[in-house]
Amino acid sequence: MATLEDLAAQVGSHAKELTQLMAEAKLSPPSFGPDAAPSPPHGKGYEKVQNARMALIEAAQSIRDLALGPDDCITAYTDGIKHDLAALHVIVEFNIPQMIPLHGEMSYADIAANVGFPEYRVHNILRHAMTFRVFRESRAGYVAHTGPSAAFLRNEVLNDWASFNLDEVWKADTRLAEALRRFGESQEPADSAIGIAYDFPKGNTYWDFVSNDGKGDTKGWRQRRFAKGMKFRAGENPQAHHHLHKSFDWAGLGKGEVIDVGGSTGHVSIELAKAFPELNLTVQDFAGLETFQAGIPDELKSRISFEEQDILKENSHKDADVYLLRSILHDWSDKYAVLILKNLVPALKDGAWVLIADFISPETSTSGPKWLERLSTIRSMQMMTMVNSPERAEKDWVDVIKRADSRYSVEEVVTPAGTAMSVIAIKFNKGT
Ligand SMILES: C[S@@+](CC[C@H](N)C(=O)[O-])C[C@H]1O[C@@H](n2cnc3c(N)ncnc32)[C@H](O)[C@@H]1O
Repeated sequence: MATLEDLAAQVGSHAKELTQLMAEAKLSPPSFGPDAAPSPPHGKGYEKVQNARMALIEAAQSIRDLALGPDDCITAYTDGIKHDLAALHVIVEFNIPQMIPLHGEMSYADIAANVGFPEYRVHNILRHAMTFRVFRESRAGYVAHTGPSAAFLRNEVLNDWASFNLDEVWKADTRLAEALRRFGESQEPADSAIGIAYDFPKGNTYWDFVSNDGKGDTKGWRQRRFAKGMKFRAGENPQAHHHLHKSFDWAGLGKGEVIDVGGSTGHVSIELAKAFPELNLTVQDFAGLETFQAGIPDELKSRISFEEQDILKENSHKDADVYLLRSILHDWSDKYAVLILKNLVPALKDGAWVLIADFISPETSTSGPKWLERLSTIRSMQMMTMVNSPERAEKDWVDVIKRADSRYSVEEVVTPAGTAMSVIAIKFNKGT
């Protein structure tokens, strides 16, 4: 068992190593200031930096938890986190980061005038957020940016991702225990925490809810917010595009045709088209997302198109070389994941590839960094809460694939270092 002193020594040595490696890689040192550089990149050339960073985070979390002791370890969550989320929710909902100049300051009184509630409440909320480094007091009565608060200015889609989580997901989380009590093993999407939180009609899915909420021009606003949130996620390190690019021989397809099934805004197709200039891609999703076609860069427009396709119905786009399901099947219970894979079959030519880019859960709790393991457990909790789907270990994935069609053959499972997402490459052997 590590002692406080052991852990302090580990923190010291990992911090030293990380500082040195970041300097060698010409990365700015970490800072709490408004100009803080984003987290260090992943991928080729940054493996050592990332390993040192993970080791430092792990040791720092361990020393904090040990110093807290058992009771405070629990109350840090029960007492604090719900209010952290409430403060963040208000900050995002009222666009407070966008009001404050990056290198300037704003008084509590002026923020109050902008948001329309009293100054003492603004004070309450922002002073709490400052305890976890979102904003700081530049002087008495004035608020300025920190690195984390300024992140909302640097990355527009972070707002969408945060707002989706703090609004829909958190509300659903508060109903999870009730959902488990009421619905036990149901595989229906509506029999879920989110289904209870928003009172889904029987048979409805999260996707029906987000495409239909709102009226007139605002209809589908949740769907668009979610889609932009996915764009944020796909740009983030553990799910970054380069992992997908090196998990399959895309270049070997030549002028191949790829169907990005459930491709949302087309963000994955755009990056594939940039990296592999011969590929032609079709983004399939709900009709409401075709508005994102306008965002395809001009030079890629001839190689990326959008089409409406309900994944719960037979796929009508026949004879492509690859059908990519990235972050799709984890959204569905086994019953529906099998159906979605079955629905591809009528479109598949002999030798077609079906690529599942998704999370494979470790069979048991790993002895690796808890910070990394949390990426996987957070994902599983999110899926259970929002879409009533299970976590899947590799054998569970193979079972779902085989149940869909015996002609599917799993050729390879690739998990590049540092990614949260694996690629299961399946070949379709049509036979005679
Ligand atoms: C988790 S997102 C993944 C988006 C994208 N593939 C990615 O990797 O970032 C799931 C996508 O599945 C789409 N989807 C859900 N149900 C669908 C259905 N019945 N038909 C078509 N698309 C659907 C959603 O609109 C959403 O874009």
